[in-house]
Amino acid sequence: MKNNKYTVTAALPYANGPLHLGHVAGVYLPADIFVRFLRMKKEDVVFVCASDEHGAAITLRAKKEGTTPQEIVDKYHQINKKAFADFGIGFDIYSRTSNPIHHQTASDYFKVLNDKGSFTKKTTEQYYDEDYNQFLADRYITGTCPTCSNEGAYGDQCEKCGSALSPTDLINPVSTLSGKTPILRETTHWFLPMDKHEDWLRTWIKEGKLDGVQQHDPKLWRNQVNGQCMSWIDGGLHARAMTRDLDWGVKVPIEAADGKVLYVWLDAPIGYISATKEWAAENDKNWEDYWTGDTKLIHFIGKDNIVFHAIIFPILLKEHGGLILPDNVPAYEFLNLEGDKFSTSRNWAVWLHEYMAENPDKIDELKYVLTSIAPESKDAEFTWKEFQSRINNELADILGNFVNRAIVLTHKYFDAKVPSRGELEDVDKDVIAQMAEFPDKIEGLIRKYKIREAQSEAMNFARLGNKYLAETEPWKLAKTDMSRVETIMNIALQITANLTIVFAPFLPGKAAKIAEFLNCGTLGWEHAGSADILPAGHSLDENKPSILISKIEDSFVDAQVAKLEASKLEKAAEDKAAQPVTHPDQKTETSFDDFMKMDIRVGEILEAEKVKKSDKLLKLLVDTGLDKRTVVSGIAEHFAPEDVIGKKVSVLMNLAPRKIRGVESQGMILMAENAEGKLSFVSPDDSFTAGCEIR
Ligand code: MF3
Ligand code: ZN
Repeated sequence: MKNNKYTVTAALPYANGPLHLGHVAGVYLPADIFVRFLRMKKEDVVFVCASDEHGAAITLRAKKEGTTPQEIVDKYHQINKKAFADFGIGFDIYSRTSNPIHHQTASDYFKVLNDKGSFTKKTTEQYYDEDYNQFLADRYITGTCPTCSNEGAYGDQCEKCGSALSPTDLINPVSTLSGKTPILRETTHWFLPMDKHEDWLRTWIKEGKLDGVQQHDPKLWRNQVNGQCMSWIDGGLHARAMTRDLDWGVKVPIEAADGKVLYVWLDAPIGYISATKEWAAENDKNWEDYWTGDTKLIHFIGKDNIVFHAIIFPILLKEHGGLILPDNVPAYEFLNLEGDKFSTSRNWAVWLHEYMAENPDKIDELKYVLTSIAPESKDAEFTWKEFQSRINNELADILGNFVNRAIVLTHKYFDAKVPSRGELEDVDKDVIAQMAEFPDKIEGLIRKYKIREAQSEAMNFARLGNKYLAETEPWKLAKTDMSRVETIMNIALQITANLTIVFAPFLPGKAAKIAEFLNCGTLGWEHAGSADILPAGHSLDENKPSILISKIEDSFVDAQVAKLEASKLEKAAEDKAAQPVTHPDQKTETSFDDFMKMDIRVGEILEAEKVKKSDKLLKLLVDTGLDKRTVVSGIAEHFAPEDVIGKKVSVLMNLAPRKIRGVESQGMILMAENAEGKLSFVSPDDSFTAGCEIR
């Protein structure tokens, strides 16, 4: 059989923040498992990714942190690149869209399309922030989504319902720069007339056919992907601007397009091509081989990226000509964390780089848990409690326990050598027959992008081993029937060898460790299912096996949950402290004479009590220097009566008396109020006695 070529991409993460477990579970880990599997099948694969370093996601972050976009992307590119490498996501290349090769590739790509007439140049009215002298596209503008009424929709997209938007679609648009309602101003841009592409897109997505030729199997596309695309197309596609009035990004390569850059969603997916080029140049390959012909292009993404990968990028690829369209766009739903959405702004996240720094010995443990709960068809949730139970009850109790028993018993009875098989009983034949079926089952699931189920089949394989040992009980037979024990342990070791193969895509570290115990090297997928992997007499590693999976203690779970809660509180406190204080606008002008009409004096509070049936009011007896009078003041929620007695305060004396809750108030106590509504007396120093004038 001829091997296929595959170009597998994982969505380029914005270099505007660190990666959290939601990103990992719903894009990078499944892509990595898929690629590891393909490599074991000896397919010719390139696995590319890069930092997405353009767009408002970056510039706005820089503004928020009071730094430059360049500093932001440099910082997070390094953090994320290292986190991926430490976690063992095996990209062939992790590039950046700021690399010159990408600017060149994206710029050339734009020119090709422009020369072909793929764009229409239009002057339209766009939202503009007068305070900042800037047009507002994408994340520079927010408002209410016309589709789902989400109030925090961005100018390019509603992340809640996935709709792709234009700023002018938003209801109640607000500039994220000034917080004000923007005005409309004319500007010229290059648009992609997507409406012209509706017909072929519909056939291509529904039937997998392009120009009458079968391209992909539409049944392998996830419902969610088909659904979002069809509802978008059925709703009618519109022209979408492919350029922006910004100075951060790939310059529009046309004279007289000063101050304009390519739309980030035009430049970023071209980043997949640039990264392939960069990798090819360094590895003596032809990049075109991976973007033309029979090569299968697979985009692993999160659900908020669907329209960009299944509609817009395919249009761009087809318009360019000579390039393949995606064979599949496996999109993932979202992962939640301990009952709440992952949120960078609220610091509700488990950050990959932090996890790796704290738990460098628990890589595959995390991989196992994240794949077990991967949000393939619906949103899913990560909790530390489940992290513990999956590791303890499945990974340790099933896989760890089986492997340990098989190897320890072989050390004990057979001096660490694989015993030979004698005559087979039914239970043996049955196990050998079941063994043979697992690899194809697992392969079929992976090829259908059902990675979560595939891993659970691999675990069933380990379960089969456990069950076999529990049924045959070789430790009991060892006293009476050693030749029977030989057969059983031979089969148990063959299962163990199989596990090094079927777990390799999911848990590469653990698979390699088991292979070390067995002293069997790295076994290819072609051996999977065989009951004759380890020849009789083969020596296992002479050392007793170390612990494959350590259990997770309750104290670990408690510490992780506490850390999450603490970091959320800390963030909230930081945000509050960083809030700029806003004060009400100045009141309209008043005359000197009007001001001088007011008689304000120092007073001293002599007595204080709560006004009956009121939470807010205190009845005060105040020495004003002229008299002792009653003043009712709305400060009871801020001060207890005993706290205010003896206080020097400012009293507005000549305010017309009025009855408040049946008590006549003869004046008013002046108070300072801050943005949070906290009150403070306006008091002179103690040497000032009641009656002194305040002017
Ligand atoms: N940076 C985008 C995001 O995080 C994904 C870009 S994917 C690409 O949502 F195709 F544009 F590269
Ligand atoms: Zn919406």
